[in-house]
Amino acid sequence: MTGKVRQWRSMCKGLVLGTLLTSCMILLYCLSTPQIHFSLPELPVPYSCAHRPSQLHHKLTTNSSHQTHGQPCAPKVDVMFLKTHKTASSTFLNILFRFGEKHQLKFAFPDSRNDFFYPSPFERSQVKEYKPGMCFNIICNHMRFNAPEVAKLLPMDTSYITILRDPAELFESSFHYFGRLVPFTWRIPGDDKLAEFLRDPLHYFDPEGFNSFYLKNLLFFDFGLDNNLEPNSPRVEEGIKFITDRFQLVMLVEYFEESLILLKDTLCWEMDDLLFFKLNARKGSTVSELTPELRERALEWNAIDWKLYQHFNQTFWKRVDAYGRRRMAEEVAELRRRNTEMASVCIEGGHAVDAGSIQETAMQPWQPIGEKSIMGYNLKKNVDKAHQKLCRKMLMPEIQYLTELGVNLWITKLWGYVRNIINW
Ligand SMILES: *[C@@H]1O[C@H](CO)[C@@H](O)[C@H](O)[C@H]1NC(C)=O
Ligand SMILES: *[C@@H]1O[C@H](CO)[C@@H](O)[C@H](O)[C@H]1NC(C)=O
Repeated sequence: MTGKVRQWRSMCKGLVLGTLLTSCMILLYCLSTPQIHFSLPELPVPYSCAHRPSQLHHKLTTNSSHQTHGQPCAPKVDVMFLKTHKTASSTFLNILFRFGEKHQLKFAFPDSRNDFFYPSPFERSQVKEYKPGMCFNIICNHMRFNAPEVAKLLPMDTSYITILRDPAELFESSFHYFGRLVPFTWRIPGDDKLAEFLRDPLHYFDPEGFNSFYLKNLLFFDFGLDNNLEPNSPRVEEGIKFITDRFQLVMLVEYFEESLILLKDTLCWEMDDLLFFKLNARKGSTVSELTPELRERALEWNAIDWKLYQHFNQTFWKRVDAYGRRRMAEEVAELRRRNTEMASVCIEGGHAVDAGSIQETAMQPWQPIGEKSIMGYNLKKNVDKAHQKLCRKMLMPEIQYLTELGVNLWITKLWGYVRNIINW
């Protein structure tokens, strides 16, 4: 009898302690915004500070496949990538990291964690070791977009790039990945919380609730805009126009390879720069296929993002038409062929595996809270010398790559350790 009571007590203690500890960590993680908002003097950054290796010069003077109206072009190296949430952007970051290393570019990285204190709006002072007048080439970590501050950080001719995803799929993914960080979801009953939420979203949703933006028009929010507007508000159209004017290329997850080919064309990059393996993919069994009815509801609930997506889907295909559908199909086929070739060179077994089957910790991807649903890769053991470095980089998860590039991630890592200890 007393044994049982004791067991109960220790269980309760464990529960309370665990809850407290994780709440503290969530708070620390989500609220660790710098409180000092000193105003920085404004020094313009008029031109690119890229270290231009002779290779670029060489490329300009010899024949290259990149000819815009018969003129050779130099690859654009100043890039602002707005990393939206749950949009295959980890895969794209890997591409950017490798491009940056190849051209010895300077990244504007955050400090102490892997984002710019999201969801607070971006400020230059959040950039690691930032001083006015400093020059950067690439910024690509998660941020809530804040155009004036970004403009003060990067050269004037910076190319702005971003990526969108079908809002129903994005909502499902966000619900799965961030749902537990949004307190109002804790009181949604039943096993299928997503379906229950979509049955009557207004009943559960609290626009003022902590982290609520993860579950409504998350794309629009990431652009620094108001995710709680009425879908018919003129400010939605204004927001779309603002994005159109600011971003040179809006890619789409659903047409990732086509997007990369347009990127190559826009930035005068090479096919070699586009090679990728799909990183941070979810295990098939944990991806819930939305029924047509749930999809309909998810789109209705995320009506602003749906407008946004439809608009940029249209402009995307106009651009593909201008590029040439046939030419696009050929280039996509070539990219796929090259990627398949790389997979057989680099990846043990040729495909992604469950977290439990990844041998090297350096290859372990970051997992969502409460599960291990993100897959990763094992690097082949006998990769030839010529490919070793490239394979490693192509397979490296974002957190590890950031560390390798010199970003200090103590908050992110501490959070990871705590989760490991309490097995969450
Ligand atoms: C350069 O391009 C021209 C015409 O496109 C071609 O005839 C020539 O062989 C090329 N030269 C080199 C070095 O590839
Ligand atoms: C995107 O545009 C393509 C081509 O016009 C069309 O086939 C597709 O249905 C559109 N997708 C969405 C989700 O609107």
